[in-house]
Order: sequence, then structure tokens, then C-alpha cells
Amino acid sequence: MKIGILTSGGDCPGLNAVIRGAVIKGDKLFEDEFIGYKDGWRGVIDGDWMTLPRRRVRGIGRIGGTILGTSRSNPFADGEDGAEIVRRHMDENDVDGIIAIGGDGTLFTANRLFEAGIPVVGVPKTVDNDLDATDYTFGFNTAVEIATESLDRLRMTGDSHHRCMVAEVMGRSVGWIALHSGMAAGAHVICLPEFPLTIGEICGYVKSAFDRGRAPLVVVAEGFVPKDAPEGFMDYDLDEFGRPRFGGIAQALAPIIEERLGIESRATVLGHIQRGGEPTGYDRVLATRLGTAAVDLVHHNGFGRMVALRGTEIVDVPLTEAIDSVKAVPRNRWDEMRILFG
Ligand code: F6P
Repeated sequence: MKIGILTSGGDCPGLNAVIRGAVIKGDKLFEDEFIGYKDGWRGVIDGDWMTLPRRRVRGIGRIGGTILGTSRSNPFADGEDGAEIVRRHMDENDVDGIIAIGGDGTLFTANRLFEAGIPVVGVPKTVDNDLDATDYTFGFNTAVEIATESLDRLRMTGDSHHRCMVAEVMGRSVGWIALHSGMAAGAHVICLPEFPLTIGEICGYVKSAFDRGRAPLVVVAEGFVPKDAPEGFMDYDLDEFGRPRFGGIAQALAPIIEERLGIESRATVLGHIQRGGEPTGYDRVLATRLGTAAVDLVHHNGFGRMVALRGTEIVDVPLTEAIDSVKAVPRNRWDEMRILFG
């Protein structure tokens, strides 16, 4: 078969391991031919792709980013008949199926294409770990490791200066990175979008840690807004898709803590550092398994479905499951963490 692969949406450590896993398995087992679209759906729309022979994926599993490039473009933008564009490309180039690696937006587009008759399978990815259809997404573990190491460093300098350190991590509508890295680093309060605390509650935990002689560490997910925040507290610009471009909640909280409690406070935004760099061993393994499973899905006519992790097994589920609901931090995980605050 001739299979096209693309990586779309925000990049994520492990994308190259998926590509490598798919190409090696397809080449060895089925003598498949692969092409890689540059910059996600843009490469399909513009006919911009490269061949992916086995030698092209040599050694890439341990490299971060994506050798194909990525973008947030989609074939249905500006009222275009996306399915027709993709079908024309596939017919002209004898492509039998597409493996789309991406987050909710990419998988939504993949499902729309599938419903219009395009043979496409999905591989879920996001550092935020917010896709309900899979237990973990690759990239998340790497992001948590990077964030944890950064938080350890912040604690050290915070201890030396007896300061409150406020660290902002990724997480648009869910706080998985904040929860896991904050828990690992022993944060004194973690602010999740799912369970908004008031500014008073945050200050209460900071004061209690400080009064015990600790340098308080506050971890805040970028999408967090305090429960009692006044209207317009965080006034984000919108990106080209109308989504808030987050960043800045830590800088907003630190001076408030300092003013209310008289504790010198500093803010750090980890930002895209969490998405760059080499994937952890865990993410390389998960991504490789998903890549090999995606090839099986193509060969078993599993179009309209995506591969997923359930427990320790790789399974496949309808693409619609990925776009139906966001995987929020559940209350029991919040309760078990909250008891450790302060
Ligand atoms: O959705 C994944 C994510 O990393 C979010 O955590 C973050 O808000 C967003 O992407 C950043 O997007 P961009 O790379 O387009 O700035």
C-alpha cells in the first residue's frame, strides 16, 4: 500500500517515534511505501510532501519535534471542500490511506474527512494529555519530566532567598501537567483550570508553607483563572483560530501574593520548553507502539478509527471518541492532591 503520514497541531516529543514505528513496520511486514506531508494538512493541500523510505527514519525515534514539520492548517478552512482536495491528491498520487497524528483539532478534521469517504486513521498526541479516548498521550510524560526538573530548580533558588516561586506550566483546559509535575516536586499549592481556587485560598496555602519555614512553590496551569477573579483579570489575545493565547497567569498571581502576604514572590513561565527536546523512554515506547499499530489499522481497513492506550494495551477506537470529550482531572485526583497543600 502507499500510505501518507502527517503531523498536525502543536508539536510534541514522540512524533518522530510514531513515524519511525509506522515506516519500519509497514516496510518490513507489508512492503508499504510511505510519503510524509510537510506541515500537516498544508502539505496535502499544497501537494508538498517527501518520500519516507526506511533509511529516512533511521535514528529519529529519539529526536524531539517532527521531521515533517507541523501547522494548524486544515483542509476545510475558508469554506473549502476539504474532502475533495484530499481525494484529488490521493487519486493523483495513488495514496491508499492517511495516518494523521494530532490532537483534538486534527482528529476532528480526520473524522470529518472519513465521513466524506477519505480513508484516514488517527494517532492521538498532545502534551496536555487531554484526550479522553486514550489513557495517556505521548509527549505528556516528557513534559512532566521537564516541568518537574524545572520546579526542583525553582525550589532550590526559592529556598535560598526565602521567596515564593510561582511557576506556570502548560494546560489549556486541563491541569494534568500541573498536577503531575506539582505533585512530583512537592508544590505547596497547585492551581488547575478544573477546580478553581480563590486568591484567598492560594494565599492561605502560601502563608501556611511560609510560616513553617518553607519557600512556597505555587504551580499554576496556564488556563487557570481564580474563582474570585474580577472580570477581565486575564485578558488574552486570540490566535488565528479564536483560541486564547495563554501565558501570564503566573505573572498576574505573583505580585498579588507579594502584596497580600508581604512575601517576596517571583514568576516563571515554562512555556514551550515543555514541548521541545528529546522524548523520554516512556514516550518513545508509547509512540513507537502507536505508530506500528496505526499501520495495522490501515491494513485492516480500520479507517475512521484511531489507536489508543488502554491500561498497558494498544487498542483502536472510533475517531469520534477523541473529539467527544476532554479528559479533565477527576475529583478524586484533586482531593488526594489537595490534602497535601500548604
Ligand atoms: O495544546 C497543546 C499546547 O501546548 C497548549 O498547552 C498550549 O497552550 C498550546 O499548545 C500552545 O500553542 P502554540 O504552540 O500554538 O503557541
